[in-house]
Amino acid sequence: MATLGGITPTRNLALELARVTEAAALSAGRYMGRGAKEQADQAAVNAMRLVLGTLDMNGIIVIGEGEKDNAPMLFNGEVVGNGTGMAVDVAVDPIDGTRPLAFGRSSSLATVAVAPRGTMFNPGPFVYMNKIAVGPEARGRISIEKSISENLEIIASAKHTQVEDLTTIILDRDRHKDMIAEIRKAGARIRVIPDGDVAAALMTAWPDSGVDVLFGIGGTPEGVLAACALRAMGGEIQGKLYARDEKELRRGLEAGYNFEKVLTMDDLVSSEDVFFAATGITDGELLKGVRYFGNGARTDSLVVRGLTGTVRQIIATHRIDKLHQLSSIKY
Ligand code: FBP
Repeated sequence: MATLGGITPTRNLALELARVTEAAALSAGRYMGRGAKEQADQAAVNAMRLVLGTLDMNGIIVIGEGEKDNAPMLFNGEVVGNGTGMAVDVAVDPIDGTRPLAFGRSSSLATVAVAPRGTMFNPGPFVYMNKIAVGPEARGRISIEKSISENLEIIASAKHTQVEDLTTIILDRDRHKDMIAEIRKAGARIRVIPDGDVAAALMTAWPDSGVDVLFGIGGTPEGVLAACALRAMGGEIQGKLYARDEKELRRGLEAGYNFEKVLTMDDLVSSEDVFFAATGITDGELLKGVRYFGNGARTDSLVVRGLTGTVRQIIATHRIDKLHQLSSIKY
């Protein structure tokens, strides 16, 4: 077999994962603005589950959908893939941004990641995580144990710029009041987003996105998915599990979770051999949403492979009449 610099090129599962997220996006995109969160989620889950079942892999869902939203599940522990390939952990978020999709707003996407069995962090029922994410320049320098202003100084120095020139991105939530006050005090610029911190984390490693760092508390599943992508894109995310109240904290401690432990990239996904794909559902800055026309549709996807660090953008045109002849998914 031909080799590239002595390395045998292996299968790029991420290319196949794009079919998974495309299917979820094509199905869910029909619900844009229709106010039907659960139906949209069901459509995305059904499509994702069906296509995942065709892939040559022996997968187990480690990060499933549903815990936080009470959504129909690709549940944790579910076996996916056709069972013939490599043993892998699978993380899914059939819709990151169910609310924006349901209410016709921007930045919802379908996403999935795969890594060798036993390498992905399993957050159990603990749905929130405090996060900091950066692109390649500041990788290895930030620390979630440091204050926001210290991290901003570090990032500015890594990027040979001033804190005033940095743009932070943070979810618009009451719990972030103090963080926003601290960022303002430090002098950095702030982009406040209503939803979607997977895309926001990726933007920190995306050339020309105009975003330097993500701060704030968001979903743990989204944190693991972002870690899979950032690992391949050369960025970094760190996190700490976040308990919403005393009861959740106690439950976590009893189950052996440590809310003080820093979750590094290695804790979130310990292998380089990771694959990530995402497809836009509604328009966002990273990915365009699904466009339907006549008997077809166009999707915009991103696929990333950890071993090579290759990031591909895939614009696909789908013939919906043909797809309906081949598959039971309603596009
Ligand atoms: P879902 O669409 O899966 O609910 O996630 C949207 C999202 O904005 C995530 O990107 C983010 O991590 C999480 O919700 C934040 O949670 P919450 O909306 O409960 O603050």
